Amino acid sequence: MNQDNIVIRRERPDDRRAVENLVRESFWNVYRPGCYEHFVLHRLRDDPAFVPELDLVMEKDGELIGQNMFMRARIQADDGRDIPIMTMGPICIAPAYKRQGYGKRLLDESLDRASAMGCGALCFEGNIDFYGKSGFTFASVCGIRYHGLPEGADASFFLCRVLIPGYLDGVKGVYAPPEGYFAAEQDREAFERFDALFPPKQKLKLPGQLF
Ligand SMILES: CC(C)(COP(=O)(O)OP(=O)(O)OC[C@H]1O[C@@H](n2cnc3c(N)ncnc32)[C@H](O)[C@@H]1OP(=O)(O)O)[C@@H](O)C(=O)NCCC(=O)NCCS
Repeated sequence: MNQDNIVIRRERPDDRRAVENLVRESFWNVYRPGCYEHFVLHRLRDDPAFVPELDLVMEKDGELIGQNMFMRARIQADDGRDIPIMTMGPICIAPAYKRQGYGKRLLDESLDRASAMGCGALCFEGNIDFYGKSGFTFASVCGIRYHGLPEGADASFFLCRVLIPGYLDGVKGVYAPPEGYFAAEQDREAFERFDALFPPKQKLKLPGQLF
């Protein structure tokens, strides 16, 4: 506990449904009408690539206000090597606490813990306006391409951060997100059944959504 009563700790099994609800509340109608991320988290926890040590929640005065999680992933290098990295997210902050610096704090602490575990680099999809403040850059700058993206297409959503200096030096290659991130698209029925366990919420088509 520190001055403003923030604690970042590992998720416990009895936090799970509350964390999924937090993810649902935070992502709802942000990128699409409704959201999938609570189902993705639910599924990824059982994935062999899930990193339990980095399955983190943020509490303020004992209230759950944020979460982040990591998966082991890899870059398929053009020279044939497989470069182990991690990918990250969903990460979120409860709607009432957004844009007050908590997301950056959770992200920076998560990155410190990933570094301490020996993670060399991270790749994922995100907004440079937020992640750029924590040292992320466009993955293209690091020589990494996004799986399936046509050459010349806008790749500014695809970000990278090197945690061990030099880790990606001389590496060129392709990154594909772990399959589990597409759980909701791949298993619509299971997603709908899962989402029905949560309080009803209205799906809205809003400007700025990606999907
Ligand atoms: C994205 C999210 C985790 C950021 O957490 P946060 O606590 O709101 O962000 P912070 O207050 O720490 O932001 C730090 C800086 O990042 C930038 N930033 C944060 N969110 C941003 C956004 N949505 N768009 C543009 N810039 C953003 C801003 O520069 C911000 O500083 P400022 O508020 O002084 O301008 C949070 O808003 C959230 O849960 N959003 C919905 C879910 C989501 O999009 N998750 C990320 C998926 S990749």
